[in-house]
Amino acid sequence: MKLNIVEILKGNYIEKEIVVSGWVRTFRNNQFIALNDGTSNQNLQVIVDFNKLDSALLKRITTSACISASGKLVASQGKGQLVELIANKIEILGDSDAEEYPLQPKKHSLEFLREIAHLRFRTNTFGSINRLRNALIFGIHTFFQDRGFLNIHTPIISASDAEGAGEMFRVTTLDLDNLPKNEQNEIDFSQDFFGRSSNLTVSGQLEAELAAMALSKVYTFGPTFRAENSNTTRHLAEFWMIEPEVAFNELKENADLAEEMLKYVIQFAMDKCPDDILFLDSRLLEEEKQKPQNERSEMGLVEKLNFVVNNNFERITYTEAIDILLQSSHYKKKKFKFDVKWGIDLQSEHERFLVEKHFKKPVIVTDYPKDIKAFYMRQNDDGKTVAAMDILAPGIGEIVGGSQREERLDKLLQRMKEMNVPTEEMYWYLDLRKFGTCKHAGFGLGFERLVQFVTGMGNIRDVIPFPRTPKNCEF
Ligand code: 4AD
Ligand code: MG
Repeated sequence: MKLNIVEILKGNYIEKEIVVSGWVRTFRNNQFIALNDGTSNQNLQVIVDFNKLDSALLKRITTSACISASGKLVASQGKGQLVELIANKIEILGDSDAEEYPLQPKKHSLEFLREIAHLRFRTNTFGSINRLRNALIFGIHTFFQDRGFLNIHTPIISASDAEGAGEMFRVTTLDLDNLPKNEQNEIDFSQDFFGRSSNLTVSGQLEAELAAMALSKVYTFGPTFRAENSNTTRHLAEFWMIEPEVAFNELKENADLAEEMLKYVIQFAMDKCPDDILFLDSRLLEEEKQKPQNERSEMGLVEKLNFVVNNNFERITYTEAIDILLQSSHYKKKKFKFDVKWGIDLQSEHERFLVEKHFKKPVIVTDYPKDIKAFYMRQNDDGKTVAAMDILAPGIGEIVGGSQREERLDKLLQRMKEMNVPTEEMYWYLDLRKFGTCKHAGFGLGFERLVQFVTGMGNIRDVIPFPRTPKNCEF
């Protein structure tokens, strides 16, 4: 019987003859192989009788060699495992030169592991992260599917800048050494592949809105691309985003949906991968011990996740958030690097203060000044703010960004003009407001920031297999 390690460890196959394949983590005393196949963060102990194996074969059981082991599964005599495999046959499927193999059975820095991202799947940490990443994907689809949302594929190549922030990667087949020019001596994109200039999408929102205006409840889950030159622990140039869009929803319902979704998917991941969560919890604890006392987080990973699932998020307006910051002793002692006044874009130090110091829980901030938000957000009656909503999470900052959308044609047109968003090109977006418009709202959840939150990983480069960041496109 061919089995994966996760199945074997459940203990249902004791006294059965089985075959298992995987990669050697360690080989002790010419006798004990710790075998891992990535289906669990636990290894299977495989016991070989070195008297029965020829010595040439024994030498080939090295760290990271790929092997197949056959034999009888027995209840373990030793501590630390329920079952072990008494192997009567070992087959080497793929040799691994121990001298050359860069991953030794010891702790490596995350920075080093990033340089060997093609091999880091084989570490406990990245095994756990990737299993959790998978559980979160499954949880997100389950959440929306159970609630009658349709999953929509929005285009990856797009001609419009959905966020209006101009942070796009161009897509072109033009010869860069010999660019065609028009009479104004500008690049002639009419000769480009699509007959116009095109980019990788920064968001599927605008197309999701089109779908929601007919199908009522939709969500996207796709890759998005931002050419922002941000070298931080929270930014990627290529990341995955979940964007639900719901007809007839207003801002409060939008916030309710986002809060419910976050709690659901976090619980879902904890239920699916308890061992991985526990492993990352202790990993984080070790890491925190390296920090000075006052920088350590007050809660462990499991404690934090349970807390988030079981408590209401705080809800405040942007104006209230600014007041809290201005009243804080942190501000009075001039501890913020960036200035605080109504109208500023909240900096990450401000967000972290609100979430980690002041409220000590996730915070939903609504009604931001219109000048710091995108053109599509619904204008409030005060003429100054829009029905925007960001969710700030401890240790992460902004994890969700969303809004109620401007459904009134005249207001939208006026805002697009003020913000120099091309109205002709985006006739299709405006058409929605002409033909049966209605209130609607949605948000974007940055998938990697969610994975960071659930795994407790400090750097976003460690929660996606192959991170794309400025000056880095390896693998
Ligand atoms: O706030 P953003 O830019 O909002 C939108 O794109 C809207 N169209 C969403 C919507 O209303 N449908 O991005 C949404 C989320 C952020 O809150 C953040 O979690 C994540 O996407 N995000 C990034 N994650 C990693 N790297 C980056 N460079 C990110 N930029 C945004
Ligand atoms: Mg945002």
